Amino acid sequence: MKVMFAASEAMPLVKTGGLADVVGALPKSLAKQGVDVTVVLPKYGEIPKTLLAEVKTITVMEVQLGWRRQYCGIQTVTVDGVRFLLIDNEFYFKRGYLYGYGDEAERFAFFSFAVLEMLGALPPEEMPDVLHCHDWQTGLIPFLLRTRYSGRPGYRDIRTVFTIHNLQYQGVFSRDLLQDLLSTGDDSFTEDSLAFYGAASCMKGGLRFADKLSTVSRTYAYEIQTEQYGEKLDGVLRQRSHDLWGILNGIDTDVYDPLNDPNVAFPYRYDLAGKRKNKTALQRELGLPVDENVPMFGVVSRLSGQKGFDLIGEILPALLKENVQLVVLGAGEPAIEDMLRSAHAKLPGKIALWFGFNEGLARRIYAASDMYLMPSRFEPCGLSQLIALRYSSVPIVRETGGLRDTVEPYNEFTGAGTGFTFGPPSAHDLLFTIRRALSFYGKPEQWEKIVANGAKTDYGWGASAKLYLELYRELISK
Ligand code: ADP
Ligand code: GLC
Repeated sequence: MKVMFAASEAMPLVKTGGLADVVGALPKSLAKQGVDVTVVLPKYGEIPKTLLAEVKTITVMEVQLGWRRQYCGIQTVTVDGVRFLLIDNEFYFKRGYLYGYGDEAERFAFFSFAVLEMLGALPPEEMPDVLHCHDWQTGLIPFLLRTRYSGRPGYRDIRTVFTIHNLQYQGVFSRDLLQDLLSTGDDSFTEDSLAFYGAASCMKGGLRFADKLSTVSRTYAYEIQTEQYGEKLDGVLRQRSHDLWGILNGIDTDVYDPLNDPNVAFPYRYDLAGKRKNKTALQRELGLPVDENVPMFGVVSRLSGQKGFDLIGEILPALLKENVQLVVLGAGEPAIEDMLRSAHAKLPGKIALWFGFNEGLARRIYAASDMYLMPSRFEPCGLSQLIALRYSSVPIVRETGGLRDTVEPYNEFTGAGTGFTFGPPSAHDLLFTIRRALSFYGKPEQWEKIVANGAKTDYGWGASAKLYLELYRELISK
């Protein structure tokens, strides 16, 4: 079976968040199940040159975008055993960072057309059985395939899967703009097509036109069909609920392994003495008071409302009165940076901050911290809590989406559980839960039990890759 992933980021080439982890790791796991997977990505300027040493150009063509014809190079490179196809256009993709430009609609409409045009330029035996698209940046692909390309030889049999990694980012643009880019008439802007409250939505292109839908945890699959979490697309999702699968993400346990992680000063696995050495190393690195016994909380996150930083902000004054340290690594909204900076200014010896993207420091924080804070308002799956479990940093999470499906609340009576959880998105509940966690941190026997339970959890990709395979098989047999 041949599957092609189309996505806007993938490890180890380029990453801003969990999407890259998934698109990097899932193909490897599918390959173990006998699936032949190729990943198509934009060729961003950010991809390290060292990974592109072996890159080869397959072909060069032009892609029609509205009234313009744009250069499009198709290149290929194999990294860590995964074959990547890269869509090359320096005007669109060689910029300073990945997202957030004024012409996002044009960049990803170009990418979507380029992926479809590329298929016609590949040898016929490389035509995928399944085209698996991820998030709004690729939402136009199922739409275009169905409405524009399905008559072309070889395209009719391609089946599509669209995976929602985050329903909040939808690629909503003015109808005029998309009408121009896609050269479509009014018929594409009806309720059962791209129309979205007077504008047009790329995400909806995926939700309406893909043959199957999935999202990255069972709880989120349920939540997004409700008004509270549905981001105004819950109606569409309810209509398609029979085609919507919730398949939990895993992590690549070879990549995330504190025993073999070159960023970790003192390699260890599930061993608290090893962690303490990493804690003091990080305290030195970040200028915090060096003390292996002080409980350390870690956060490695996009700085966005999704992640519950408002709750963290509310409890910081109370939390930092205790004998604790907090280390935050994050990139994103300036208002969240400001909130953290002002807390830091008041209590510099208790909190360390690092703004920007830093893979090495992220790993050192997972390795050093005793507890990992993730009080998300919503969380499709979340990989950080899985990495935390792998690095024996006990997660403290809100019971939503994938957090609910991956962290089992500790029960002191049965000894079961891998972390600490709370339900309502309230600062009070977060603080209460943190204090509860701290009370067990002070009881080494129980703490070791919680860490040991975390070590036994299966957070690899094996089981979920089998479910994706089942999903693909169901599609192909139709
Ligand atoms: P999301 O995809 O919503 O950002 P996830 O928990 O699924 O959240 O995945 C986040 C991934 O990005 C994790 O691998 C996390 O370690 C990483 N990450 C987030 N922010 C940073 C940062 N500033 N520097 C390095 N890694 C980061
Ligand atoms: C999104 C979600 C996150 C998920 C990731 C990978 O960025 O916010 O919860 O883990 O995608 O699927």
